Amino acid sequence: MIEFNFKYILNSAIFENGIEEAEIRSLEHELVTVRRNLNDLRRDEEIGFYDEISNMAMVNDVKEIAEKLFSKDINTLYVFGMGGSSLGAIFLKEAMKGAACEKRMGKKINVIFSENIDPCYIKKNFDRIDMKKTVFCFVSKSASTIEVVSQFFIIKEILEKMSGNYKDNLLFITDKNSGFLRQYADENGIAALDIAKNVGGRYSIVTAGTLFPAYAMGLDIDKFLHGAVSYRDDMLNKAVFENNPVYTLASVIYLFYKKKHRNIFIPFVYSDYLKEFSRWFRQLFAESLGKELTSPTPVPAVGATDQHSQLQLYMQGPQDKLIGFFCLKDYGEDFTLNPDGFEEFNYLNGKKLSEVLINELKGVELALAIDKRPSFRITLDKIDEFSLGELSFMCMEAVAVLGMLLKINPFDQPGVEKGKKFAYLLMGKNDETLSRESEELKRLDEIPDLTY
Ligand code: PA5
Repeated sequence: MIEFNFKYILNSAIFENGIEEAEIRSLEHELVTVRRNLNDLRRDEEIGFYDEISNMAMVNDVKEIAEKLFSKDINTLYVFGMGGSSLGAIFLKEAMKGAACEKRMGKKINVIFSENIDPCYIKKNFDRIDMKKTVFCFVSKSASTIEVVSQFFIIKEILEKMSGNYKDNLLFITDKNSGFLRQYADENGIAALDIAKNVGGRYSIVTAGTLFPAYAMGLDIDKFLHGAVSYRDDMLNKAVFENNPVYTLASVIYLFYKKKHRNIFIPFVYSDYLKEFSRWFRQLFAESLGKELTSPTPVPAVGATDQHSQLQLYMQGPQDKLIGFFCLKDYGEDFTLNPDGFEEFNYLNGKKLSEVLINELKGVELALAIDKRPSFRITLDKIDEFSLGELSFMCMEAVAVLGMLLKINPFDQPGVEKGKKFAYLLMGKNDETLSRESEELKRLDEIPDLTY
């Protein structure tokens, strides 16, 4: 179970920079409405992440396609996907390196990701793999994201030159009914999996887009989904403030943003295996909440590493941050320190290395509190599939609740479209959907570049 400690946000701990427990509770009425609205969206199938976690047909499809594709002479899965279409799987891959994880697949599949289009990086990746023994998996809800489609054209050409039978090395994971890649898959009899219509990219950690690569890398996807389902049901059975971390977490971030001008939120993870979690969480947070001139800015950090990088700023810089520490009860492996003969380090004698790490975190928490800087702590039992399922669901629901509190739609991302439209124009695409941007571009083009 995930444990929360909110002590250092209270004004009894950090005086005028803190809040009273009663202030959190005063949001109860609003939160009950938020919950009702989320339930309505769920019932009307407008949002799908609540129910996709128990979609057994989807899980069976993932396993069936995996068994089929990997029954051949394949040793690599190469995943192309942007933003929410790859960050979830990258998070799980990194996290599971730190956990004891039985391999589900009969053989080891090397899973690699291409979440950018730096040509040199991609070329070097291609040089490292045996193309014929690789399944190239294109994950794109819209089935038309430019970075993914561009890489598809490259792969298609390479494979066509290499062998006539390249279609067996392709897999598309997209919305069932729309987009270029899906149409290509349908027309050419290429393997495809569906991403539910009502689950957007950053909530898609519970869809085939994440679960297929996760299954290929050996993660027990049933256990992962079980963790998410059990967390969902546990939270739904509780009143909003009945020991309900989702609603408390959303309320705390909301109150510190609105009332205490804490414009920066720092998910500070004390585990190397949660580094990619913090990138996933940043995207979920930023793309869901940053609209209509609102939202704190998420800035991930890793402890203890970043204690020697950003901590000075967090300790004595502007009073504009709220820190959320994430750590583990059990780090899996450990070392016992034995500084025999080095008297000045006697206090370390017999200590586990994980104790040093946790005490560093607690030291930072205390120092922040003494300087009236708010923080809270979230502790996972350990890293395994079940707890990662719980953690993922908790973050998605908390972000959805926070979005509702901020009175924005946490499920769209209108802001990222504009830049794409200009890029299309710059590359020569021009149709009526780009007419406004075309005018805007003309105006800016009239201003000469200011270069030195
Ligand atoms: O969270 C989101 O919706 C985005 O980050 C998308 O995942 C990203 O833009 C990629 O889109 P698509 O999956 O349509 O290729």
